[in-house]
Amino acid sequence: MLSLKFGSKWVAVATSESVVGRQRHLRDLCCFSNRIQSNGLSSQYQIDFNSPLSSKHSLSLEGLEDVMVGYFFGKKRATEVAHSVWKCIVKKGDTVVDATCGNGYDTLAMVKMVADESGSARVYAMDVQNEALESTSALLDESLSEKEKKLVKLSSICHSRMEDVILEDSPVSLVAFNLGYLPGGNKAITTKSETTFQALKAAHRILKPGGLISLVVYVGHPGGMEELETIEKFSSDLAVENWICCKLQMLNRPLAPVPVFLFKR
Ligand SMILES: C[S@@+](CC[C@H](N)C(=O)[O-])C[C@H]1O[C@@H](n2cnc3c(N)ncnc32)[C@H](O)[C@@H]1O
Repeated sequence: MLSLKFGSKWVAVATSESVVGRQRHLRDLCCFSNRIQSNGLSSQYQIDFNSPLSSKHSLSLEGLEDVMVGYFFGKKRATEVAHSVWKCIVKKGDTVVDATCGNGYDTLAMVKMVADESGSARVYAMDVQNEALESTSALLDESLSEKEKKLVKLSSICHSRMEDVILEDSPVSLVAFNLGYLPGGNKAITTKSETTFQALKAAHRILKPGGLISLVVYVGHPGGMEELETIEKFSSDLAVENWICCKLQMLNRPLAPVPVFLFKR
């Protein structure tokens, strides 16, 4: 875990003695600033990676700590963690990609994050199943205004071909994958290691600096574990100067979904 800098004081937020003892090294890696209110810590933190491993992008971490702690204690789901991480990255007016739109819940969350008065945002959402695209379309129809719906481009396409539908001049801040099968649909139709790997390469090409590739990986279905291994291999090969790659795995729940986040510096 990490130490946080509160004003001029470093405060260990991990219980492990070994980690606490490494605060000074962490100081080289990350510099946190925050607002401290008279009754305690404010919920808004800014993280600024300004070391040799650094990036120029600052992240608003507002709300993230509640979700993470909820997740550690089994009270928040992997998808809720993913949405909270997206909120740290995505801004109004951004272009984002839902690489597996399924029943549309992720697409809907993305629209709410990017939509603004200018109408310049774009949400590209895709799936290989018509049933999924119809389900997403129905959810968007009942949940969004006409103006918000115009921001979404739904495509019947494999995510390995996402570049065929995304306009070249749209820098993308988020590509999200919620892998596996369509809930309530045919469980035999799942995402597959090889196409997920190709899609990750495409996401890698189109993502702008400061952007995020987010995956929620379901390992309980046939091929799910192999898919996770493919993603781990892809992620661990990314250059540390340019990427921060992390996965959250429940050690005593081997079939629990695994959130993976690949942040481009
Ligand atoms: C877990 S569901 C996605 C859930 C969805 N994000 C939501 O919010 O409801 C996985 C989806 O991936 C889709 N899928 C499978 N292979 C795909 C591929 N190669 N390209 C795009 N979508 C794919 C499935 O049809 C399924 O709808």
